[in-house]
Amino acid sequence: MREKLEALLAAAVTELSQVGTEEGLQELRVKYLGKKGELTAVMKGLGALSPEERPIIGQVVNTVKGELEVKIDSAALQIREAKKAEKLRAERIDVTLPGRRQPIGTRHPITLVIEEITAIFAGLGFTVAEGPEIEHDFYNFEALNFPKDHPARDMQDTFFISDTILLRTHTSPVQIRTMLEQEPPVRIIAPGTVYRCDSDATHSPMFHQIEGLMVDKGITFGDLKGILTIFINQLFGQGTGVRLRPSFFPFTEPSAEVDIACVICNGKGCRVCKNTGWLEILGAGMVDPEVYRHVNYDSEIYSGFAFGMGIERIAMLKYGISDMRLLFENDLRFLKQF
Ligand code: FA5
Ligand code: MG
Repeated sequence: MREKLEALLAAAVTELSQVGTEEGLQELRVKYLGKKGELTAVMKGLGALSPEERPIIGQVVNTVKGELEVKIDSAALQIREAKKAEKLRAERIDVTLPGRRQPIGTRHPITLVIEEITAIFAGLGFTVAEGPEIEHDFYNFEALNFPKDHPARDMQDTFFISDTILLRTHTSPVQIRTMLEQEPPVRIIAPGTVYRCDSDATHSPMFHQIEGLMVDKGITFGDLKGILTIFINQLFGQGTGVRLRPSFFPFTEPSAEVDIACVICNGKGCRVCKNTGWLEILGAGMVDPEVYRHVNYDSEIYSGFAFGMGIERIAMLKYGISDMRLLFENDLRFLKQF
């Protein structure tokens, strides 16, 4: 009987050494220690032994059973530990690796140009003023001396919201809002978004302008030319050619359009300047007395000038962009270049 038990234990230990999974262990446990297991079967045979043998063999059975239980439990522990170690190895994270960076955007060329122009005029003593993009006819047209049914209104294809409310077609209404709010001296620039029913390679239905206005005692056309020349030299480089051509705006008299020597061909003539050697970049003029009347300024005491430029066009010249629509397509391959 004792030999039988020891053989059983030896067999169990051998089998145990070959089991590698928790399921396998469970099967082994059932096979030897279960209700119908081999050790249980031996214990059932104890009744057939003599009363002297019974306690001795009983003790051996208990020892074998205890030993087997301890061995199975420790094997189970080993398997769980190995599983855990394997899991940790599989999920290992190298905390010393560099992180993945969030891609950082670049500033839009329109923003870059607005910031640069604003900085130049800040250096000349101008402060920034703003106005609404949804505007009254009064500020956008009437007070700027575009009377109702005046043909000059057709120069700007307007998006109307109602008879008297519209999307501003230029930043000039900020001139009116500023002068109604304060007395001279005035020295402001007004960057902002404007809208016109207009769309092709050099016109966009939504675009940007920067307005300028300077009003004080004794301001002359010479001041206008001086300020704009300083500005153009700072923006496009010292010695850039500047030319003023007579023009017309209802709210300035006299009026001029300002050209710069073509930045692409240096004035020699090319496709961009249509072989003229010059590029128009802004409209300007002396503020018309009719405008002062609308804002209650005394045109006998004060004089001044205003100018307005298209930002997209300046950005195209500065960065050599051939199609204005590129500025609004939000193609990252384009935008990342700035
Ligand atoms: C004006 O808008 C006047 N308010 C400018 C002004 C201000 C004159 C103060 C005198 C005193 P104009 O319509 O020419 O003028 O527009 C000015 C500039 O805006 C143009 O030279 C051009 O650069 C730009 N521009 C006009 N239409 C568009 C468009 N659809 N898309 C992009 N840029 C445009
Ligand atoms: Mg024009």
